[in-house]
Amino acid sequence: MIGMAGLLTGLYCCTALAKPEPEPTDLIDQQHCMFCHTIDAPFLAPSFRQIADRYRDQPNASVMLENKLRKGGRAHWGDTQMPLPAERGGPISRRDAHKLVQWVLSQ
Ligand code: HEC
Repeated sequence: MIGMAGLLTGLYCCTALAKPEPEPTDLIDQQHCMFCHTIDAPFLAPSFRQIADRYRDQPNASVMLENKLRKGGRAHWGDTQMPLPAERGGPISRRDAHKLVQWVLSQ
């Protein structure tokens, strides 16, 4: 039987093997982005495609979104703010935030 211990060992294995340069998809798992977002269907949060459509052509959007991912900020889609990194899966570095935002905007 694969109990909690097996599950944790499994997680440990893959975390230990993680590349030093994380892929956006790893970051997305770590930060549970898909808990609230989907690529194309608005659910608890705007879909990543909606977000990309809204910001793709705005030159400063990427910096704004990176700051928002790291430090939070005013809601732009309704009244619900996105939880801060500490509540999602841990702090995000500037570089990781940049990667995540580039990924979102490419959807
Ligand atoms: C607990 C739910 C939840 C999680 C987890 C979550 N989000 Fe969000 N996200 C939201 C909500 C709600 C909004 C809409 C907030 C608003 O109106 O600005 C949002 C908005 C956004 C926006 C648009 C912000 C803006 O100012 O327009 C981006 C980009 C985004 N999320 C990316 C991410 C990424 C990347 C992750 C994972 C690192 C993530 N989200 C994890 C709920 C979540």
